Amino acid sequence: MILISGKEVAESLKKEIATEVAIWVGEGKRAPHLVAILVGNDGASQTYVGHKEKMSAEVGFRSTVLRFDADITEEFLLGEIDKLNRDPEVDGFIVQLPLPEHISESRVTEAIDPRKDVDGFHPVNTGRMMMGMPSYLPATPDGILELLKYYKIETAGKKCVVIGRSNIVGRPMANLLSQKGWDCTVTLCHSRTKNLKEEVAQGDIIVAALGKAEFVTADMVKEGAVVIDVGITRVASDKTKSGWKLLGDVKFDEVAPRCSYITPVPGGVGPMTIISLMKNTLKAAKKEIYG
Ligand code: GUN
Repeated sequence: MILISGKEVAESLKKEIATEVAIWVGEGKRAPHLVAILVGNDGASQTYVGHKEKMSAEVGFRSTVLRFDADITEEFLLGEIDKLNRDPEVDGFIVQLPLPEHISESRVTEAIDPRKDVDGFHPVNTGRMMMGMPSYLPATPDGILELLKYYKIETAGKKCVVIGRSNIVGRPMANLLSQKGWDCTVTLCHSRTKNLKEEVAQGDIIVAALGKAEFVTADMVKEGAVVIDVGITRVASDKTKSGWKLLGDVKFDEVAPRCSYITPVPGGVGPMTIISLMKNTLKAAKKEIYG
């Protein structure tokens, strides 16, 4: 069993991005500028945005965080998005999710100029991705593809089972793995799937992205499978200083011995997602997708 180190891969890609940024800036161009909008004071969102800010600085980007109270109106937020869309000094921006209930996530996502949508959540980017056209890829699926590439894991002709059909992980993951170059035969499982256990047990590659702690157990995993765990559920723990720990969607201790490769939680998929955001922001600055 080989433990996939997202930390190691992220570190390696981070160096590549930093080198590219240094060359870009060395040519006299403006440093790529990423803006994050944070609404309200959700603890996890603040942590994520903090990580994005830190990583931006480490690769040589300019970064700005716009913080707004939870009670701002949707109209106000759409106004801020419009300003960023038109600001030539901003290459890419994200609106950290979740948003307060009174603000429509889909209206907000659709208001972002697809050329600056470095999360890859806008329907235009989703559609382009589905058609295999150049687009900003959503961070988690892109990070998983980078892990498969780095570890030279064969995907062509393999049976891949994706568990979870979210717009930002499961669905794009299933689509990307079925595309030319990856060439998997993909099954997308979800809460209404019949005989889920049997479906998952067919997988040469299993991507667990349903958001249920320790859902995937040893009896669902074929001997020699590649297991990618996207789950990050916070649970109380008396063994950590913070009072909580993270659990994946896979029951790691019993599943790992059956695997050829497996990602841990934390330190697997997680560190890759910020790298993908950095990749997209650099592409935005270089106008690689839309010219
Ligand atoms: N919330 C959880 N994941 C993400 C992400 O990738 N982007 C944004 N904007 N919000 C998130």
